Amino acid sequence: MDHFHFDDGRLYCEQVDLERVADRVGTPVFIYSRATLEAHYDRLAEAFAPLDPVICYAVKSCDNLSILALLRNRGAGMDVVSGGEILRARAAGVDMSRVVYAGVGKTDVEIELALDEGIGYFNIESEAEFENIAAIAAARGTTARAALRINPDIDPRTAHAKTTTGKKESKFGVDIERARRFFATYGHNEHLRLCAVHMHIGSPVYEVEPYVNATERAMQLVRELQEAGHHIEAIDIGGGFGADYQTDQTPAYTEYARRIVPLLQPFKDAGGRILLEPGRTISANAGILLTSVQYMKEGGAKTFAIVDTGMHHLLRPTLYESFHFIWPIHVSPDMVPPARGELDLPGLHPVDVVGPICETGDYLALQRKLPPLHRGDRLAIFAAGAYGRVMASNYNSMPRPAEVLIHGSEAMLVRRRETWDELLGAETNPQPVLLGT
Ligand code: LLP
Repeated sequence: MDHFHFDDGRLYCEQVDLERVADRVGTPVFIYSRATLEAHYDRLAEAFAPLDPVICYAVKSCDNLSILALLRNRGAGMDVVSGGEILRARAAGVDMSRVVYAGVGKTDVEIELALDEGIGYFNIESEAEFENIAAIAAARGTTARAALRINPDIDPRTAHAKTTTGKKESKFGVDIERARRFFATYGHNEHLRLCAVHMHIGSPVYEVEPYVNATERAMQLVRELQEAGHHIEAIDIGGGFGADYQTDQTPAYTEYARRIVPLLQPFKDAGGRILLEPGRTISANAGILLTSVQYMKEGGAKTFAIVDTGMHHLLRPTLYESFHFIWPIHVSPDMVPPARGELDLPGLHPVDVVGPICETGDYLALQRKLPPLHRGDRLAIFAAGAYGRVMASNYNSMPRPAEVLIHGSEAMLVRRRETWDELLGAETNPQPVLLGT
């Protein structure tokens, strides 16, 4: 579900004609819909309402401060993975006790920041990390809370091997057997209170079954830990809920909830807390990337549409072979797409939509059937709200795009386009580090 729709052949976000935004701020630009973000958050909260969960939005999926602030207003906590994301959560006014901090490589400086900010839980990924955080907390005379990240060893059947995490052979978390020993060894530390269990099986997961299996395994472990005398106050089931890269690709929230809620309800009813860490399911369909065709080119039997964005702004097609629906934002009314996916309508032609980067892998779509394209046409790349702008780089010294947030008939520039000056700025004044003798 989202609030991007065609009306008389023109693409609107909520009530805003996107051609007008492109005229004002130029392309490439990420455009987000506030109504979509809010609806996703609200529906997810509603589906899981019996558990009254803390919904910790995964900042890494789309970290714009204005978006974090609007989700915070809805009641969201945040799932962060770096010092920078902790600062974003703080800047967005998030209640820091509703922040969970994951990541396998937390540095001492980041740990100190998290302790200063009083975050909710450190999600612990290894014994060495636990010992380090406990030592830093002890040295500062403070106490923090921790959740152990477990690997339930479930194949989440994600869309791509690069986003599978919950299996035993993964750099994330510890397996269930090791989790028992982990609690036995560290379960009574006074500076880092190990009192919760965390998991994240992968993303995106388009089936409910892997969550069911993983949650059952986690609950079994929790019961064993309780019997062994450990107090477990919270279970965090992670994120990974799907998004509609193609129409109706992902189960409804009510589908996930119908199977997952009953498994966690007894824990909740006994006074436990449930946390979720959704990212893309909230942000992916809430954003598009708007681009302009620079040149059309024939190459052998192929047609290329060379656009002003590419792998440096939306890496997903190159990195994960992921599908993003692409369509011109201004078409004749009989060319309005009936759905988002691989379309085969009369009048379409296969095109490689490629970027300006000097790499063969720089593409947004290969052999995609599209209406005839011309220089200057604007194209929308859909479901680009998650892992789009956040994974953008300055490769080939290209500035990163602007970000615009739409609310009804209003459009706000919530991040200005990077400038060439900014690209060069950090290098204009070299400083001595070591002077040779
Ligand atoms: N929690 C943890 C511990 C995670 O590692 C992640 C994502 C999430 C929550 C949120 O997952 P989500 O609900 O957004 O699927 N760049 C890749 C995705 C990497 C996901 C990393 N972890 C992509 O573009 O598909």
